[in-house]
Amino acid sequence: MGPPADYEIDLPQSFQSASDVPIGTAVDSYKLKNNQTYRDLVIYHFDSIVGEWQMKWNILQPERGQFNWEQADYLMDFAEENNISVHGHCLVWHGANPDWIESFSGGKEEFQTILKTHIQTVVNHFEGKVDSWDVVNEAFEGKKYRRNKFYRILGPDYIKNCYKWAHEADPNIDLYYNDYSLASNPEKLDFILEKLDSLLNEEIPIHGIGFQSHITLNSPTLTEIKEAMTKVENLGLKIRISELDVSLNRDGKYGVFTDELAELQKNRYKQVVEAYLNSSQVKGITVWGVSDAHSWIPTHFNDPDWPLLFDGKYKPKPAAQGFLEALVGFSNE
Ligand code: XIL
Repeated sequence: MGPPADYEIDLPQSFQSASDVPIGTAVDSYKLKNNQTYRDLVIYHFDSIVGEWQMKWNILQPERGQFNWEQADYLMDFAEENNISVHGHCLVWHGANPDWIESFSGGKEEFQTILKTHIQTVVNHFEGKVDSWDVVNEAFEGKKYRRNKFYRILGPDYIKNCYKWAHEADPNIDLYYNDYSLASNPEKLDFILEKLDSLLNEEIPIHGIGFQSHITLNSPTLTEIKEAMTKVENLGLKIRISELDVSLNRDGKYGVFTDELAELQKNRYKQVVEAYLNSSQVKGITVWGVSDAHSWIPTHFNDPDWPLLFDGKYKPKPAAQGFLEALVGFSNE
C-alpha cells in the first residue's frame, strides 16, 4: 500500500459537452441548496439528474394520504432553471418504504388501491418535469421474485400493474425496470428478461432496463457487459446505466486511496463507459453521486472506499479523466 494519491487534474471540457447521450448524477437537494461548489459542479458537468432519495416512497408519502413534495420540487426547479433533465427514481422498491406500508395488514384490494394511488399521484405530480421513471426497482433476487411487501400481498402481477398505472398517468414518458448485478449475474438477467418479455407480449408499457452498475475493478467483465446489453437490445428495450460507481475496496484491503488505485479506477471507468456506449440503445449514463465524501458505498459495505469521479474536495480524480476520455472517443462532434 503506497502513500495517498496525489493528483492535480484539469478537465479540458465538461462531461455533458463531450457526450451525445445525457450524463447524469444522483443529487442531494440539501447540498444543491447549501453548497455552492457542489451546485456549480453539477450544473457544469451534468445534463441529467436523479434524486438520490428525494423521490422514494418514504419521502413522498411518509404517512398514508399525506404527500410531501418539498425536496423533490426543489430538484424540479433546479433542473428547469439549469436546463437539466430529470429521471424519476423510484416508484416501487423494497427499500425506503414508510412504516405504514411495511406494517400494512389489510386486504389485497386495499393494498392494490394504495399502490395505484401512490404511483398515479406521483407520476401526475411530476408530469412534464420528469422524462422517465424507474417504475419497479430490484424486484428480483437471482432467479426468483423478491418477496417484498408488494409481492407478498399482491403476487407477481403487481409488477405489470405498476407499469400500466404509471403509463395511464403519463403516457409520454419512458418507463424503466431497474436492478443491480445484471451483467455479472447472467442467470438473474435471463430470468428477468424472460418475465419482462412475457409482459411485453401482453403489451405492458415497459420501455427500458436500468443497469445500476455498482461495479468493482474486476466484475463484471467487459464481455459480460457486452453480452448483457445485447440481450436487452434483442428485446428492443432501451438501456440506462443508472447508478454507476466503481468501488475499490469491497474486501477491505485498503486504508487509503493510492495513485495505483486511482490509475486502475481511471482505466476501469474508461473501459466500461466505452463498453456501454458501444450500444446504440444506451440512452444515458448516470453516476451514483458527485463526490467520494458522500457516496453510499462506504456506509453500505462498511469499508473505506473512493467510488466516484470527484474527491472529497470536489477535485476531479483520474477516474473523471478516464470517464471523459471515453465520452470524447464516442462523440460525433
Ligand atoms: C441508496 C442511496 O444512495 C442512499 O443514500 C440511501 O440511503 C439508500 O439508497 N440501489 C438503488 C438506490 O436503487 O436507490 C440506492 O440508493 C442504492 C442501491
